[in-house]
Amino acid sequence: MLIRTKIRYYFHIFAPANFSNFSLMNEVRILDKNFSEFLTEKEIQKRIEELAVEINRDLAGKEVVFLGILNGAFLFAADLFRRIDFPARISFIKLASYQGTSSSGLIKELIGWNEDIKNKTIVVVEDIVDTGNTLERIVDELVIRKASDIKIAAMLYKPAAYTKKIPLDYIGFEIPNDFVVGYGLDYDGFGRNLTSVYTLIK
Ligand code: XMP
Ligand code: MG
Repeated sequence: MLIRTKIRYYFHIFAPANFSNFSLMNEVRILDKNFSEFLTEKEIQKRIEELAVEINRDLAGKEVVFLGILNGAFLFAADLFRRIDFPARISFIKLASYQGTSSSGLIKELIGWNEDIKNKTIVVVEDIVDTGNTLERIVDELVIRKASDIKIAAMLYKPAAYTKKIPLDYIGFEIPNDFVVGYGLDYDGFGRNLTSVYTLIK
């Protein structure tokens, strides 16, 4: 019933009554595009558990601030952070650099710095690292703010698109250079509430 409700929600404008066109229930339509399920909720949650085990092992005993990058990382940050078993802080910053299905390359202002970064171990929590432009901007700012150590946790990573040298410490999944939505990631603002990750059907 839950699945049917979800499909209806995403399809209702285009296919109000007839579900027979959509025999694969793991496809969703968002606005004008179709997407197919690529990473299931179960796979995502299992991988986050593995990343948390690594982070708990590597960073316990340090003064750690997790820094989630809004909007896209809000679910990943929540699911990762709830599995952290040592005392740690979490904070969020926001920037806008992306519209539609291809990176605009424009990096806008970083807002929301209200946590003291100086001399702390910072774990940047990103939904997806694509070209790396966003990440570089954030890391530059963390260096200016004198973080003692900077770690990067990215749920998704597109190695074919990455143009930077910054090492990624905790990667959920390496994925092809295709547009994806779900689990925090959006297509023009929609799809963030999908619990799986979906890839664009071309
Ligand atoms: P860069 O190129 O700066 O991009 O590494 C990082 C930011 O761009 C967004 N992004 C995506 N958003 N599906 C999305 O919904 C994608 O496939 C995608 N690729 C990049 C995202 O906001 C990320 O933080
Ligand atoms: Mg986006």
